[in-house]
Amino acid sequence: MRTRANPVYCGIDTTDLAQATRLIQSIAGAPSPAVGGIKLGLEFFLAHGAPGVRYAFPTPVRATGVGFFLDLKLHDIPNTVAGGIRAVVELEPTYITIHVQGGREMLRAAVAEAVDQSARLRVTRPMLLGVTVLTSLDRSDLEATGVLAEPSDQVLRLANLAQESGLDGVICSPLEIAALRQVCGPDFVLMVPGIRPIGSDANDQKRAMTPRQAIDLGATHLVVGRPIYRAADPRAAAEAISREAGVNHL
Ligand code: C5P
Repeated sequence: MRTRANPVYCGIDTTDLAQATRLIQSIAGAPSPAVGGIKLGLEFFLAHGAPGVRYAFPTPVRATGVGFFLDLKLHDIPNTVAGGIRAVVELEPTYITIHVQGGREMLRAAVAEAVDQSARLRVTRPMLLGVTVLTSLDRSDLEATGVLAEPSDQVLRLANLAQESGLDGVICSPLEIAALRQVCGPDFVLMVPGIRPIGSDANDQKRAMTPRQAIDLGATHLVVGRPIYRAADPRAAAEAISREAGVNHL
C-alpha cells in the first residue's frame, strides 16, 4: 500500500515552554511522529523566540522528518519583512506565513529572501504561505477598512496575488478549499485550520469540518490544535486524527 505523507499539523498554542516541549516530544518524537508537523505561532514565538524553538523542538525530534510551520503572519514594509524571513530561515521552518495584504512588493521581497538566505545557509528553502482574509472578519469589517468586496471574493483575489507573487500556498478555512483548489490549481498548498475529528467538541470553531471532508475537498494540510493538545492522551488523539485524514501507516 502506498504510504501517504501525514497532512496533520498540530498547533501548539501556549507560552508554557515545558508543556510545549513535552507535547512536541510525545506527538512528534521517536520512534516516529504521529503528526505531519508542528505549528508554533505568535503566542509561543513572542514568549520564547528562536532559543525556545530550539529547546522545545530540538534536532533529534526534527530528525524524525516531522515538518515545522512557523506561523508568524508577517506584515510590514518589504525590507522589514525580508529581514524577518532572513532571521528565521536558520530555524529551518517548512512553512512561514505572511499577510497577502502587505502587497506584491512585500511578497516578492519575502520570496527572494527565503531563496537567498536558504542558499547562503545551505538549508531547504522555507515555503511561504499567504494569509488572505482572517476568518474573524466579515463583510462589514472589510467595509470599515475600505474594502468593498464580499469576503469570499477578497479571499480569491488575494490568493491569486499570492500565487502570482511566488508564494507556495495560502491558509484557508474549510469553506474556501473547493474554490481555491479550482482557481489555484493542483499544486498550490492549502493549509486548513478549523478541523474537528468526528464526534469532538467544536470549541469556538464555528464552521468546522472533519479531516476526511477537508482532504476530499482538496486540502493539502490540516491544522489541529485543541483536539490534540487538550486530549488526555495527545499521542493517541494525534494518531486517530491522522488516520481519519487518510494516513495508513500509524
Ligand atoms: O485549537 P484549534 O484546532 O481550533 O486550533 C487551530 C489553530 O489554527 C490555532 O493555532 C488557530 O490560531 C489557527 N487558526 C484558526 N482559524 C483560523 C486561522 C488560524 O483556528 N481562521
